[in-house]
Amino acid sequence: MKNSDYGLDGFLSHLKGVFSITVEDSRDIIKAFHQEMNLGLAGMNSSLKMIPSFVGPPKGTEKGRYIVVDLGGTNIRIMSVELDGKGNIDVSAVSRLVIPNEMICGTGEALFDHIAEYIGHFFEKHHIGGQKTYDLAFTFSFPIEQHSLVSGILIGWTKNFTASGVVGKDVVAMLSEALKRKNMGFINVVALANDTVGTLMARRYSDPSCDMGVIIGTGTNACYPEKTSRILKYTDPGTFEEIIINMEWGGFAGLKMNIYDQALDLASGNPGMQHLEKMVSGMYLGEIARRVIVDMITRGVLFCGSNLSALSGEYTLRTEHLSLVAQGSDFFEEFGITDVSETDRMAISEACRIVSTRSARIVGVAIAAVVTWMDKSLERNHTVAIDGALFEKYPGYSDCVADMLHELLGERAERIRLELVKDGSGIGSAVIGAVAASSCRHR
Ligand code: GLC
Repeated sequence: MKNSDYGLDGFLSHLKGVFSITVEDSRDIIKAFHQEMNLGLAGMNSSLKMIPSFVGPPKGTEKGRYIVVDLGGTNIRIMSVELDGKGNIDVSAVSRLVIPNEMICGTGEALFDHIAEYIGHFFEKHHIGGQKTYDLAFTFSFPIEQHSLVSGILIGWTKNFTASGVVGKDVVAMLSEALKRKNMGFINVVALANDTVGTLMARRYSDPSCDMGVIIGTGTNACYPEKTSRILKYTDPGTFEEIIINMEWGGFAGLKMNIYDQALDLASGNPGMQHLEKMVSGMYLGEIARRVIVDMITRGVLFCGSNLSALSGEYTLRTEHLSLVAQGSDFFEEFGITDVSETDRMAISEACRIVSTRSARIVGVAIAAVVTWMDKSLERNHTVAIDGALFEKYPGYSDCVADMLHELLGERAERIRLELVKDGSGIGSAVIGAVAASSCRHR
């Protein structure tokens, strides 16, 4: 498209096309998803890692009390979680912290020392003590190649983490060593889980129809239970007929990237990777919208070509800003943007809507891909447990995901329930600890 070809309206309809995910596109995406799932499960080269998590779904009768550490993309949460064996989960203490930058970009040893210190503070603050030992369940929201329920090698950092000396190492061993360094060797790490697996397990503990866990927050990913006989690369003779597969769907490479996606990817710390995540998750939506807005200013269809420098810093526009716009507010004052006309306002709001709508529609397609993989003609009910701020807080996002499912599956979409499971990522790793303990007892 040449500059002379359009005014603002022309540009916005061009933008809609560039960011559209049609039903026809979706059918191809679902096919590609299924192919990549197959390859991933067979241990062949695939953009979906399909990582076995060494745990099967809970029955709801598992009991136990666990200290949970949930290291996500933006926050670290520590909780004390108790399961009563009747489907009830009690969270008696919670501490949340925004992960400081020095933990994200420093050394791995310092990262795990910080986590151990936080655990120490948590014990003090909530007066936890008196037992000889404590069991800890660790939710670690990054791709880990698990070799057992209590060991996992970090394949590579995602989101904005770069802490050195962790890739290729066992994160449970690193946490256990840090706990010992901080004189807390009485805490035993008994389970390691991805946040999607935690989310699924938290809901499944009391809802047998739950067979998918999804995170739509800083990053995005999903998991589901798979028959062990279908996981060709899985050789563990274990006790489970089904185990949960952490798909790492953020890596899916079967989507068409537009010029904004390509530019974002090239400028990112991990070019060529996490394609789906970069088009969907909270870490990137603001940056995609910023690139679109900068393009609109440069082409003279926005702000009469002014205010360019206000928006020139990468990642300065965040998904929270887009969320403000979706609520009818704006971010102009914070960025020192002046002389905003009603038309500019409308144009910004439309650009943000186009970017966030594509994200929700991709999530809808991806959920449809996984559910139809498990149940081709949708003969059963499926509850999808979802955690993450984008899904929870972005105005209209969850409806847009549901609408996409309806467009794709018609009335059969009624069989898919999307359920927010707040803090599920952490709570569920306690469920994993309890499932592991009870399967040891039954051996
Ligand atoms: C990233 C991580 C993945 C995690 C997701 C959501 O995609 O690689 O493990 O589940 O973010 O936090």
